[in-house]
Amino acid sequence: MENKNAEKIERRTEEDGVIFMSIKNDEEKTNTSSDKDITILAIESSCDETAAAVVRNGREVLSNIISSQIALHTIYGGVVPEIASRKHVEKINGCVKAALSEAGLELKDIDAIAVTYGPGLVGALLVGVSEAKALSFVTGKPLVGVHHIEGHICANFIEDKNLEPPFMCLVASGGHSHLVYVKDYGEYDIIGQTRDDAAGEAFDKVARAIGLGYPGGPKVDAAAKEGNPDAIHFPRAKTTEKSYDFSFSGLKSAVLNYLNQAEMKGEVVNKNDVAASFQKAVVDVLTEHTMDAAAEYGCKKIAIAGGVASNTALRERLEQECDKRGYTFFRPSPVLCTDNAAMIGAAGYYEYLKGVRSGMDLNAVPNLPLGNRERRYHGRS
Ligand code: KG4
Ligand code: ZN
Repeated sequence: MENKNAEKIERRTEEDGVIFMSIKNDEEKTNTSSDKDITILAIESSCDETAAAVVRNGREVLSNIISSQIALHTIYGGVVPEIASRKHVEKINGCVKAALSEAGLELKDIDAIAVTYGPGLVGALLVGVSEAKALSFVTGKPLVGVHHIEGHICANFIEDKNLEPPFMCLVASGGHSHLVYVKDYGEYDIIGQTRDDAAGEAFDKVARAIGLGYPGGPKVDAAAKEGNPDAIHFPRAKTTEKSYDFSFSGLKSAVLNYLNQAEMKGEVVNKNDVAASFQKAVVDVLTEHTMDAAAEYGCKKIAIAGGVASNTALRERLEQECDKRGYTFFRPSPVLCTDNAAMIGAAGYYEYLKGVRSGMDLNAVPNLPLGNRERRYHGRS
């Protein structure tokens, strides 16, 4: 079963590299607000996108501004942390201003400021955290620190206004691969995670090895559409029986071995076939674990999150498997799967409702753990 509201969000790219996201379905974006509404200004700068958004009541995106650094890092074949931090400093004020102006609001209309404080690149996170702290200090508005991966999961609440926990969420990004049982708003049980490389990391490394370059995921996705997914059999890693953990380093090594052997034999490699066969191996494992976990937990709602969740083959396969079982499949539009601040506004809203408030001692935490609520209460209120 497909959720009805999927893919309603479109993106439009401006020349200076700033992407303005607008909402296709205008009736979703109301210009009226009531006293009960909670409007959050959200900031995200954990990796290579500087982003700011205004989100009302956790689900209604009034603006979503993303300044992507992809073009800048492409020449180095990956994200250069120092360059990312400097670019965030240059772009952050402009993104915040654009987010407010696109929402038709001023700082005084905002109820709280939410910001990603981990996990991510420490220098990059610090830029967003400092900006949010400064805005909170001058306006006196509450500050809410948000976990980046919880933000990814909450992108599903924006896409589908009717989604309520509990549900099973597959989180696959550049740094994380988790199977998360979302028990309630802000309540996350990790039931599986990668033992080595994250799924997105495997996509990026394989893309580099076959000469597709950075960013790897979208390039492998595109190449795979021209290739045969059954051309080469790459291994599907099993960790232990009954475990929902993932392992992608063996698959990555198998692809590298295949390429090396072909080179030694002087054979020409069909890059599209390698991309399609590798992608199928990843999709098989992610799908199998998600469906097994859903069955064990008696969960009929499946969601996906993170950059890899924008992968065409993964979306198609999960949709088919959900259809077979009568499950409802929730998937954010691709622009909400990759890093953005609207998802931080959604997660920040539920944290705000739970009373989470961060103090001026909020700091960037590069390896912030997911799901441990105690550790997410921090700072003075
Ligand atoms: O969530 P995200 O934007 O940033 C992190 O929090 O890591 O995820 C980025 C990751 C990268 O590894 C990128 O290659 C991967 O998501 N990715 C994809 C696709 N689009 C982005 N992987 C597979 N297929 C895609 N279409
Ligand atoms: Zn992310």
